[in-house]
Amino acid sequence: MSATQNYIPALRYRWLTRWYDLVMAKVFPEVRVRRALIDSANIQKGHRVLEFGVGTASLSILLKQIHRLPEVIGVDVDPEVLRIARQKIEKSGVLMEVEQYDGSVLPFSDHSFDRVVTCLVLHHLDPEQKRQSLREIRRVLKLDGSLHVADWGKPSNWRMRLAFYVVQLLDGFKTTTENVQGQLPQIFQEAGFLSVKESAKVDTVFGTMRIYSVYGDKSLTHQNHPFNIQNN
Ligand SMILES: C[S@@+](CC[C@H](N)C(=O)[O-])C[C@H]1O[C@@H](n2cnc3c(N)ncnc32)[C@H](O)[C@@H]1O
Repeated sequence: MSATQNYIPALRYRWLTRWYDLVMAKVFPEVRVRRALIDSANIQKGHRVLEFGVGTASLSILLKQIHRLPEVIGVDVDPEVLRIARQKIEKSGVLMEVEQYDGSVLPFSDHSFDRVVTCLVLHHLDPEQKRQSLREIRRVLKLDGSLHVADWGKPSNWRMRLAFYVVQLLDGFKTTTENVQGQLPQIFQEAGFLSVKESAKVDTVFGTMRIYSVYGDKSLTHQNHPFNIQNN
């Protein structure tokens, strides 16, 4: 079954998608996390940026408000969340496109993006979907491009571990276990990336968010130990 039929919507149930932005604004430090993710990406004038799992486009809209010049494209599997994204993009006045895709093959040619950013998406994907999506992201990135990920990671203490059970009960254990075990860096490596740096960590009421910069080119590994995670 393709991910278009088999995906976890933004707040687990389709009927809750319309409330996603309101819930996020109330319970999640989204501006702090999104800004840290955008900062980690070191986006330059002329870059072409893909947001993977764009959702309601909050990250991409903020990115376009901070850096006006890059071309930004968002993809997602959920037509309902993309309908909300298009309304928000129009209202915000930023220029960007969002596209629906089938959850397996990204509709872009090889090496066509300088940056891929993604926030709170990988924990919605089961182990095989995570690896398939990361291989696709690697394919569409330029050789000197980079991936920047914000997602649930290894809890920084037992309170964070307990809090994360709420996310696991909502989104499921199959898709979230590798996150909470701190396995995302190894999964980046399995997908063909060559180095990773953890650039920030944010404790929230639902657990610990970790922000990673992930590189696919050996020449960039002088800044980042190959799969020895560097903490900020
Ligand atoms: C928790 S929401 C995060 C949305 C957005 N990135 C944000 O920061 O608010 C997870 C998103 O992942 C999307 N998603 C689920 N499966 C996906 C897949 N296979 N490929 C791309 N996006 C997917 C969902 O439709 C949803 O929009």
